[in-house]
Amino acid sequence: MTERSCLSIVLAAGEGTRMKSARPKVLHEVAGLSMLGHVLTAVAAAGGTAAAVVVGPDRDDVAAEARRLVPEATVHVQADRLGTAHAVLQAEAALAKGFDDVIVAFGDTPLVTPQTFLRLRAALAGGAAVAVLGFQAADPFGYGRLVMEGGALAAIVEEKDATEAQRAITLCNGGLMALAGTHALALLKRIGNANAKGEFYLTDAVALAFAGGLPTAIVTSPEEEVRGVNDRVQLAEVEAIAQTRLRVAAMRGGATLTAPGTVFLSFDTRLGRDVLVEPNVVFGPGVTVEDGVIIRASSHLAGCHVARGAIVGPFARIRPKSRIGEGVHIGNFVEVNRTTMGPRAEANHLAYLGDATVGEGTNIGAGTITCNFDGADKHPTVIGRDAFVGSNSTLVAPLTIGDEVLIAAGSTITLDVASGSLAFGRPRQAALPDRGAERIRTNKRRRAARKAKEAGKA
Ligand code: UD1
Ligand code: MG
Repeated sequence: MTERSCLSIVLAAGEGTRMKSARPKVLHEVAGLSMLGHVLTAVAAAGGTAAAVVVGPDRDDVAAEARRLVPEATVHVQADRLGTAHAVLQAEAALAKGFDDVIVAFGDTPLVTPQTFLRLRAALAGGAAVAVLGFQAADPFGYGRLVMEGGALAAIVEEKDATEAQRAITLCNGGLMALAGTHALALLKRIGNANAKGEFYLTDAVALAFAGGLPTAIVTSPEEEVRGVNDRVQLAEVEAIAQTRLRVAAMRGGATLTAPGTVFLSFDTRLGRDVLVEPNVVFGPGVTVEDGVIIRASSHLAGCHVARGAIVGPFARIRPKSRIGEGVHIGNFVEVNRTTMGPRAEANHLAYLGDATVGEGTNIGAGTITCNFDGADKHPTVIGRDAFVGSNSTLVAPLTIGDEVLIAAGSTITLDVASGSLAFGRPRQAALPDRGAERIRTNKRRRAARKAKEAGKA
């Protein structure tokens, strides 16, 4: 199969007006990746050797997303929305290069798996000229119906063109289709628009192939896989299915999710073995977690790497470009941003570490803040190994603090500190004997006098 070349054509010209959005429909995200991204990733995983994306007019944003994911993808503009076959034909230049297999996928149908695309390709390898993805529809309304004749798929009839008898068919067209490269262009070019919608239907390729004596095939999938998105309610439904898949994959891979329904993963979240994820944890894109890590409840992680045996949370936030070393402890209400924590470093309570490098075994006290932003630019804070930053320290970057440095609690540190030093960044403490007690007693007297005066007035 892999020797067969394959062009995938992704239709992404949908206006998506029902999304009520400034963003085109296919750029809305599911599990942290655009729907278009999901489709392009799946067809690539199914051995797609080339990708063509058909976009609506003036959709540079869609073209950019396609190229971000598949730099060599070609982008074709469909100026007028004249139907799915017309859309596919906009990629004629790509088609004309000649491929064994041609897959047509929809950019708003993000849950189709690589396995399903591979099964469609297997049908082509088995001799089919056209292979269709069918499913048993709970409610077939609106879908194209698969019409059989003598045990073979003879045609797809759209809802609006179907007879009463055809409407009773529940085996429906999931939308995507695979065409043998040798026949694709000829079939597509013969498709007309004499139907209820006056559109060039891709689905008519089936009847044309069948009439021409070419073999057709049906590959079936669960309805869930062909779920399309037209509005935000359907977007949420698709998100829920994607999350279930990701949670199951994480658990099958050896992670424990105490309350899986409350953990939100991204398309690329990687969890090692014996990772424990407590309830209400959100993983944004780009997170990798090594074996034996514990992510405690209500934490948020994105764009970071967490090494073996670390403990994060509860209520921790790890932001992009952060690296949490082996055995590190990040405790409650700690925010870590573009920061590297060396092995066994700790920040257990209430801290902000931004643009920082924290050395091995260093302890960051409660309330420590790196002042990384001066209002215009961001600056780094570098802290050596085995240092101890006392509670409520304010570290004004750019700043370099050496190894085994002790920063006194409550310090504001603006100058570099050499290794081995004890640094104070606060006024020396003063104490005046007896003055405290005097003041406390005076205050008591004044309070009593005021209350007596108020009582007299009343
Ligand atoms: C299509 C199928 C139908 C199938 C259903 C599954 C056809 C003719 N019908 O119907 O059999 O049951 O999907 O959901 O294919 N598009 C373009 N340019 C166009 C028209 C469409 O890019 O000119 C894109 C749309 O953005 C969308 C996809 O093609 O991603 C399908 O178009 P849509 O109008 O949703 O087709 P359906 O009526 O749903
Ligand atoms: Mg549709």
